[in-house]
Amino acid sequence: MPTEKTLNDLFLDTVKDIYYAEKQILKALPKMARAAQSEEGKASFLQHRDETQGQIERLEQVFEILGKPPRGKTCEAIQGLIGESQEIMEEFKDSLALDAGLISSAQAVEHYEIARYGTLIAWANQLGLKDAVPLLKQNLAEEEATDKKLTALATTAANVKAA
Ligand SMILES: [Fe+2]
Ligand SMILES: [Fe+2]
Repeated sequence: MPTEKTLNDLFLDTVKDIYYAEKQILKALPKMARAAQSEEGKASFLQHRDETQGQIERLEQVFEILGKPPRGKTCEAIQGLIGESQEIMEEFKDSLALDAGLISSAQAVEHYEIARYGTLIAWANQLGLKDAVPLLKQNLAEEEATDKKLTALATTAANVKAA
């Protein structure tokens, strides 16, 4: 039997999921910046930390549009991804491969976020949540730009050094 739950509920649940994830990422990025060996790596993690702060504020606007209090819902996927980056920081500390590892785990996080925002934009359109769409699109654009920047960073510096 189908339950009473609707796409509206799924949308709200997923906003809570990414809200929780962004808050965890906000805490993880300064640690990754501290761990990174290259100045470019440090700078890009710190820049994305500031962007993440803005993303959290946009999600709070989405909650407002929905008439719901901003509340996160534990996201095990992001806990796992951040856990992996902590593992890399410990296991590759003082290794020339450290930055390559940090960048690769940061990209896994970006891809998670890109998947979430892509879905949320599609659902917001379907649900007629017109004011939420540009907010989510702005977050998606920042994640995509970060992903590209990390790719450039990996191919120019970190991977070369690691090899
Ligand atoms: Fe984000
Ligand atoms: Fe991100």
